[in-house]
Amino acid sequence: MTRRRLVAGNWKMNGSLAGADALVGAVVAGAKGLSAEVAVCPPFVYLPRVRELLRGSPVALGAQNVSREDPGAFTGEIAAPMLRELDCKYVIVGHSERRALYAEGDAMVADKFARVLREGLVPILCVGESLEERDAGRTEAVVARQLDAVVERVGVSELGKGVVAYEPVWAIGTGRTATPEQAQQVHAFIRGRVASRGAEVAAGLRILYGGSVKGSNAGGLFAMADIDGGLIGGASLVADEFLAICRAAG
Ligand code: PGA
Repeated sequence: MTRRRLVAGNWKMNGSLAGADALVGAVVAGAKGLSAEVAVCPPFVYLPRVRELLRGSPVALGAQNVSREDPGAFTGEIAAPMLRELDCKYVIVGHSERRALYAEGDAMVADKFARVLREGLVPILCVGESLEERDAGRTEAVVARQLDAVVERVGVSELGKGVVAYEPVWAIGTGRTATPEQAQQVHAFIRGRVASRGAEVAAGLRILYGGSVKGSNAGGLFAMADIDGGLIGGASLVADEFLAICRAAG
């Protein structure tokens, strides 16, 4: 099964209105004609502006987080229908920063994944182990637990409507990328685990790698059989760097 590669930029809590204009303008111009899909995930407050800048372009819009609740009395939260109204296609759920800094557990992440799907949007589920967990030989156990929580919540065919991003925590924002072989090993494990529940879903599932991806290492990562693109943090804030990654994806 052919899987269309996806490169999604996660701006995290960075940027400004003026900066967004410049960055998105350059990405729209540079992403023309690529076979890979490109998406940008700016902070919530920039979504309306970026949506305007993306109009008529194949670059997709995404959000970095969402509430698991329906609209209501949840001060400071953002509901999935609001993201749909702004033409978001993707929503990142379970990013390691949310898990670690905002105490999002597997159950909450699974709820968010389900809520995004119910809205007709595409969740990007982040999974990945810490350095301590890797050193203890627990990488597969951690990733399996994070993945299974979602599969048990929504079922394997619904999981297949989303995207998975493997992001080893020790590689995020550290400049220390997983080697293509290290990443491939975990990607193959993820695909195998999904395949044990649904072979067809696994074959079509896009599994992105994230963690210090740059223009210079993207080609090696994307050449691996089970790496279907990237979730890009720091490098997504620099147009030339982000576009080099997009081109490496095809
Ligand atoms: P990084 O972040 O590319 O800056 O390492 C990746 C991510 O957290 O999605």
